[in-house]
Amino acid sequence: MINDDTVFESGQLSIDLSDLEASFSNLVEDTYAVKGLRSRRYSRYRLSADGKLTHLPQKEFMQSKDINKAVGDVERRFEEVEPKLEGEPAFVKIFETFRDHTGLSPEAVIEAHQVRWNCENKVMIPAPEGTHQDGFDYIGMFMIDTYNLTGGDVLVYKSLSEPPIVKRSLKAGEYVVLNDKKLFHDASPLVPEPNNEAGHWDMIVLTANKA
Ligand SMILES: [Fe+2]
Repeated sequence: MINDDTVFESGQLSIDLSDLEASFSNLVEDTYAVKGLRSRRYSRYRLSADGKLTHLPQKEFMQSKDINKAVGDVERRFEEVEPKLEGEPAFVKIFETFRDHTGLSPEAVIEAHQVRWNCENKVMIPAPEGTHQDGFDYIGMFMIDTYNLTGGDVLVYKSLSEPPIVKRSLKAGEYVVLNDKKLFHDASPLVPEPNNEAGHWDMIVLTANKA
């Protein structure tokens, strides 16, 4: 369980994720990032004690300039996550897994970013803001699929002046959950395979504060 002492945990989802993959082809260009870097959807939910997701009204997404040097203090609006995902056992399992590691109460608001990073013909920097915090109590990064690229190690740091304490390439189904108040994160560049086929990195990122 993530707390002040255990600030990082990782694991492997024990559920078939293939029913989520099609929805990643249906994401919407993230116009706040470098053109072509990523596409995204974003929604907010609560997870009841018995594992039912309730969708909450959309809100603009904003991080302060202190947290995000690339697009801080900018209200970002994204298209909603497709409603059909709320009924997908694999989607719900991701939220339950996040709660298992954080002990979030049913009142906690969980924000979900469904993101595809694109990588074709050139190296892409996945986090233009560099090593950063997201501004929440907890973050979970759940890898759904990687295709036709290398690199993209998830990097976790205790401070901005020390080498990473975690450097890990996540395979489909693998995840990390971390205390965003205590740790910083980043990812190494995405490197395309030497062919002309588009590669991608599909992830669901959950963030939440204690209620
Ligand atoms: Fe982040």
